[in-house]
Amino acid sequence: MPLPKHEYVSEVWKDSIFKGKVVYCTGGNGSICSAQVRALVHLGADACIVGRNVEKTERVAKDIATARPGSKVLGIGGIDVRDVEALRKSVDRTVKELGGIDFLIAGAAGNFLVPMSQLSENAFKTVIDIDIIGSYNITKLVLPHLVASAKKYNSTSTLPHTPTSGPGGRIIYVSATIHYTGLPLQTHVSVAKAGIDALSANVAIEYGPLGITSNIIAPGPIGNTEGMDRLAKKVAPGETPGRQIPVGRWGKVKEIADATVYLFSDAANYVSADNLVVDGGAWRIGAVS
Ligand code: HXC
Repeated sequence: MPLPKHEYVSEVWKDSIFKGKVVYCTGGNGSICSAQVRALVHLGADACIVGRNVEKTERVAKDIATARPGSKVLGIGGIDVRDVEALRKSVDRTVKELGGIDFLIAGAAGNFLVPMSQLSENAFKTVIDIDIIGSYNITKLVLPHLVASAKKYNSTSTLPHTPTSGPGGRIIYVSATIHYTGLPLQTHVSVAKAGIDALSANVAIEYGPLGITSNIIAPGPIGNTEGMDRLAKKVAPGETPGRQIPVGRWGKVKEIADATVYLFSDAANYVSADNLVVDGGAWRIGAVS
């Protein structure tokens, strides 16, 4: 049974705004990225999600496809973002079967909780490899398709770009806020997310003249996600979720989906090299739960 729209994206968005667009997403079987893609599919897009776990990726893709009858959603499992050749095959298949790539969501991330004193060199490197190098790998592979999309949909003759048929050539990296302050047990993840923020800014600056926008979404504590459930239990055991946060609650995956729709929509044509923090004001006061 499909979820009602308001369960995963706000009613304020027009249903067809992403008609004819294709989104490619790494980490797409996870709680946050699958919600982002589901919203875009509901609003007209087709999609490819990739992930390491074959069964989970295929199952989540089927589930996302229920967001809009007639949608095409590829779920390609067995893809590790550290493996450039595997990624390349999934990008080629997406372009062949869906006709191109207009939007990239780079969301694949490694995460486990460990004090720095017990963080091995290889454990640190593993998260850097998944987060920073994995994001770099997929960016390099998808950029030519994004540039083609930007050329097709955006007028590049003048600045700022004037989209003629909805936007194309957009990137969102899913980062975090933990590296703004630092967080116990998360040195490796904090360093990795800082690198992703830098990657996004540089892509925005180098590829802006070709019509590409690149932005960060930095989720704060979001409920019903594997990462947050694990982290909060260790960092702040026994706390009522959201008690310390200015808005008084944890976020919902739907609220990350709404931010995604905004950044890929015409409403964000002049937003690039930016970090959109969606955290209920949490990081400003150092709240993690
Ligand atoms: C300490 C650990 C560890 C743990 C792995 N390692 N898990 N060290 N504590 N819990 C170490 C291993 O011992 C090894 O180092 C090194 O990391 C590599 O381990 P592998 O198992 O070979 O790595 P690999 O299979 O490549 O990847 C494992 C993984 C990955 C990185 C743990 O499976 C993973 O991260 N899964 C969870 C994904 C996830 O939850 N993503 C959501 C992210 S949410 P040695 O020295 O022994 O060789 C998010 C939000 C952040 O990012 C913000 C939160 C607020």
